[in-house]
Amino acid sequence: MEQFIVKGEVQLNGNVKINGAKNATLPLMAATLLSSGISVLHGVPNLRDIVMMQDIMTLLGAKISHEGNDTLVIDTTGVSKAEIPEHLMREMRASVFLMGPLLGRFRKVRLSYPGGCAIGPRPIDLHIKALERIGALVCDKFGYIQAEATELTGGEIYLDFPSVGATENAMMAAAVAEGVTIIRNAAREPEVLDLECFLNKMGAKILGAGSDTIRVTGVKRLNPAEHTVIPDRIEAGTFILAGAITGGDVIVENVIPEHLSAVTDKLREVGVKIINGVNSIRVRAGGFRGVDIKTLPYPGFPTDLQAPLLAMLTLAKGTSIITETIFENRFKHVDELSRMGAKIKVEGRTAIIRGVSKLTGATVAVHDLRAGAAMVLAALAAEGTSEIENVFHIDRGYESLETRLQSLGGDIVRVY
Ligand code: UD1
Repeated sequence: MEQFIVKGEVQLNGNVKINGAKNATLPLMAATLLSSGISVLHGVPNLRDIVMMQDIMTLLGAKISHEGNDTLVIDTTGVSKAEIPEHLMREMRASVFLMGPLLGRFRKVRLSYPGGCAIGPRPIDLHIKALERIGALVCDKFGYIQAEATELTGGEIYLDFPSVGATENAMMAAAVAEGVTIIRNAAREPEVLDLECFLNKMGAKILGAGSDTIRVTGVKRLNPAEHTVIPDRIEAGTFILAGAITGGDVIVENVIPEHLSAVTDKLREVGVKIINGVNSIRVRAGGFRGVDIKTLPYPGFPTDLQAPLLAMLTLAKGTSIITETIFENRFKHVDELSRMGAKIKVEGRTAIIRGVSKLTGATVAVHDLRAGAAMVLAALAAEGTSEIENVFHIDRGYESLETRLQSLGGDIVRVY
């Protein structure tokens, strides 16, 4: 098992370039299946989740190759299967994104339930309801879901919750349905807008992504397209918080500052200096105060930065309260942070954090991707050395995290 060894109390200083967004790339890869031919995606990060998606699509018959550092060339001509084996569904929940495009292209798809994950149960009822609203017949037996549609026809979809994945699946299937589909209470995340942009390059007629109502006018067929993925706002936020927790001076480059407004506004509120450039954000921190915050769908504070922010607030002056409204069980990092000297009490979906003057290095385990980022941040600021176990979770969503932190002066190495 690979580990990170981190020597703490080192200020991070310098510039770091942010990669393309994992959460935009996964649905974009899935969307290429709606056409037959060669699509090209630029700015694709080199991550475990992306490799897994690549493996699943290859199994379906796609031919995928890399050009240069970050370009994926996806040939979907030979895709003939619309069935995803159970073990792959279990390994990566994001394979649920394949449901909409495979249904759209083959009018039939079979997959197993993705199952729960470290941050709590993650049902797909909203995905299923959305596809049913545009004509899919969904049969759900023995842990398998089979969706079929002799015809997909536009319809009105109201999502009970603005689920990112359900919005994206609905957009992809509706893009090739007959007639107009309206998706209400849609997720407004930037990754949804990036998907709209790519689908429209493929020939789709979609309007409204980024707002809570999306209008999709179905077309007969889509063509392959070329696209550059938007920057990863969660990766950017993680480096910004790393700069802040170490009291450093860090410039994150290749970001869209507007995508991080909820994060930078909160940081300003606690006393961290933030300077927005056109495509960059500079963070300079001395001390910072406690704050109350709730995670919310975009444009609210992202749940994916809750754990890294919580790590930072363990060292704030005063008390902070974080309420997690998106996922049921997303405070597993709390026990590990407590081993480093943090004072945190969890009551249901709320964590009460009493700021301490220092954290102490410890051996800690990572249970999920963003909790892993939180442990790294805490270790960078802690006195002494930390050993962080289960680094593979971190590799799912951060490319070469340790080398990029080293370039900012961080004392972190990977041991095998
Ligand atoms: C996406 C992101 C993930 C992020 C999350 C919330 C990707 C690959 N992942 O995940 O990093 O944390 O958005 O911003 O883009 N829900 C249901 N039924 C459903 C679907 C969702 O009850 O059918 C619930 C989930 O359990 C969760 C909430 O809705 O509590 C939000 O989930 P959703 O927005 O769908 O997240 P994902 O698309 O899975």
